[in-house]
Amino acid sequence: MEDVTRLSVTIRSFSYPDGTRALRDINLGIRRGEFVGILGSNGSGKTTLLKAMDGLIRDYTGVTLLDGTDIRKLSPKEIYGKVGLIFQNPDEQLFAPTVFEDVSFGPLNMGFTGSEVSRRVGLALGDVGMEGHAKKSIHNLSFGQKKRICIAGLLAMGHQILLLDEPTAGLDPMGEYKMMNLLTKLNREQGVTVVMATHSVDLVPLFLDRLYILSKGQIVRSGPPAEVFTAPEEMAQVKLRLPHIAELIYRLKNEDGVPFDNIPLTVGEARKQLLALLPTDITLNGKAGGRS
Ligand SMILES: Nc1ncnc2c1ncn2[C@@H]1O[C@H](COP(=O)(O)OP(=O)(O)OP(=O)(O)O)[C@@H](O)[C@H]1O
Ligand SMILES: [Mg+2]
Repeated sequence: MEDVTRLSVTIRSFSYPDGTRALRDINLGIRRGEFVGILGSNGSGKTTLLKAMDGLIRDYTGVTLLDGTDIRKLSPKEIYGKVGLIFQNPDEQLFAPTVFEDVSFGPLNMGFTGSEVSRRVGLALGDVGMEGHAKKSIHNLSFGQKKRICIAGLLAMGHQILLLDEPTAGLDPMGEYKMMNLLTKLNREQGVTVVMATHSVDLVPLFLDRLYILSKGQIVRSGPPAEVFTAPEEMAQVKLRLPHIAELIYRLKNEDGVPFDNIPLTVGEARKQLLALLPTDITLNGKAGGRS
């Protein structure tokens, strides 16, 4: 990851026209190639913050810089050439009758010719695992497929920064993993900078580099998952919880006195630590796979 800040957000205060103060004292930076999470409970300000990062919300005090320029001074075309926002609800984003028409809308508007548009649509559908669905009616897609088509639409335009609002919400557990794997692949293999809003605490430690926790419109904590996920009581204060596996180990450590060194956030880490604590003779013939 290069140390180049693509997006820098400083918002002292933002209120909606009805007076609801949705953001305050926000200070965050997104570096090129990062995979960052904005974690927060319902109503904490995640969608509002993503909209500010996409230039959709402008009347706040403060400044959002996209590659060093105030996003409010950029034209929509200049913004959308770099940054794309995937809405929380795919039905608000998709509008064309078929998959091909929807995904080709962006590149067509950017002025690409027919063959280049087809090439871009083909590649984008391949990236999201939806090749072969170009002629399908949007209406007949499953919810998870619609979310993938939304991402394809932005990829076809060649966005370098993807802002995703709850990309895993409404997906089944396998769909959640597939979506996170897709985003990880885009991030690692194609260098797309990814910012996602979520409240899926179990998924976050497996995939994300860095997290910001939002509560009541403010960033209350930030850092790598291992620093941000602390005690269950502190998570409860911001209406979140620890990942299930971390909660189990936390209780074993603090209530039952099992001597864990730290609180693992993933099943893989927990397995290693448990195996290290168990006597060799009760593990499978002493062949404890996770001991290394
Ligand atoms: N258009 C609007 N007009 C007035 N208030 C709004 C508007 N949109 C959001 N809000 C308020 O702003 C606050 C933050 O809302 P936001 O949608 O950003 O939260 P969120 O973290 O995305 O929540 P969720 O997890 O439910 O999607 C909430 O108090 C909400 O009621
Ligand atoms: Mg939201």
